[in-house]
Amino acid sequence: MSVVNIDKLIHSIEQRSGQSHVEIAQFVQGVASGKVSTHDATRWLKAVHRYGLQQEETAALTTTMMNSGERLEWEEGPPVVDKHSTGGVGDKMSIMLAPALAACGRRVPMLAGRGLGHTGGTIDKLESIPGFNCSLSPSEMKEVVDSVGCCIAVQNPSIAPADGVLYAIRDVTGTIDSLPLITASIISKKAAEGLEALVLDVKCGNAAFMRTIEDAEALAHSMVGTAKAMGFKARAQITSMGEPIGTHVGNSLEIIESIHVLQGQGSPDTRELVVLQGATLLCMTDDTLSMADATRKIEQVLTNGQALKKFEQLCIHQGVDSDVAKHLINQPEAVLDVASQETTVLASRSGYVKSHDAMKIASMARAHGAGRTELEDIIDPGVGVVIHAKQGAPVNQNDPLFTFYHNRALSDEEKLLLHQVVELNEEPVKVTSRLLAIVE
Ligand code: URA
Repeated sequence: MSVVNIDKLIHSIEQRSGQSHVEIAQFVQGVASGKVSTHDATRWLKAVHRYGLQQEETAALTTTMMNSGERLEWEEGPPVVDKHSTGGVGDKMSIMLAPALAACGRRVPMLAGRGLGHTGGTIDKLESIPGFNCSLSPSEMKEVVDSVGCCIAVQNPSIAPADGVLYAIRDVTGTIDSLPLITASIISKKAAEGLEALVLDVKCGNAAFMRTIEDAEALAHSMVGTAKAMGFKARAQITSMGEPIGTHVGNSLEIIESIHVLQGQGSPDTRELVVLQGATLLCMTDDTLSMADATRKIEQVLTNGQALKKFEQLCIHQGVDSDVAKHLINQPEAVLDVASQETTVLASRSGYVKSHDAMKIASMARAHGAGRTELEDIIDPGVGVVIHAKQGAPVNQNDPLFTFYHNRALSDEEKLLLHQVVELNEEPVKVTSRLLAIVE
């Protein structure tokens, strides 16, 4: 019989009487070792999702999730930094940020996640690159960071394994958008990396888990407070997640866009976020650097090819054949798998692009295999959307608005849905910065 009395824990959550640190530690160990069944873990997650946790319980959950695996330790050397996002649509920042920071002399041992709910995950995106191996042991992570300056790995039985199990269950049980669960999931992984500084990108809007600025601020305070209590610097940037980020949504498509940015091109809104997050981390780990200087540094490595070179080395050190990596950074479209069928939606009239419904884009892509709805679902890396006319762009009737890439035919209902993604406006549309607030 399990040492964890799930009924008792759930009762404490419902009654808000507080689970003890020991009870939470036993639950987390049971999850990591497989002694707590998926059924019981789901019941516990649903109770937390519904009733929340007290601050001490969140702290205990975060600490015990971190302690469920190893913690990286670093020798003297450049600052160890990372960023994490609460998840969005087209949110591909990590793929460019890790090599850009490495090119600026930082160490980035990034632990990232798979897709969660309607949002994509860095790991699923990287796995669309032939040969890319995200399953690194702690010593392999250190080796890659020591050689390249950055690595991007998924949780595994050695690092934050409890989060690996809970994350996968949350993805398919409707228990994602919970302040204590998101806090513990993100901060436990980051604490296990042995960081000096962390930037948190807290997404806010109708395509984020936090829909309102109040909810996003509450999550930002919860994560920043928990990170600081665990001994590292943290700053949260609350950014709008209404419009999809950049031009590409979907696993291999987002790698393609990331490489465009690393080639010095790419969508300005993708670039804006990478520069903002990168410059913030440079400043947090160098008191002599102004934000303007840090911004220039990141912009420089994105345009002079140094970040692209780091990305190539990252691919090679994480299993990609060197010829494939070279080809990838020059011509990503030729290397990556893109779905065979294309449906392009045209503008029904002239005007300006007012908005894209990021949730509709994400749901369509997920339904066609870009994300999971069951634990065992296999991702179709080539499915996704390429936006031709971003928010604010002027369009003429019949101009292409976006293309949906898919491998199975669309139903009539899905075709209708695609035509509801873009809203047009007669008057010009003002596009504002994504940054809404900073919490530190
Ligand atoms: N990213 C994570 O790693 N965990 C969450 O719960 C949400 C986003």
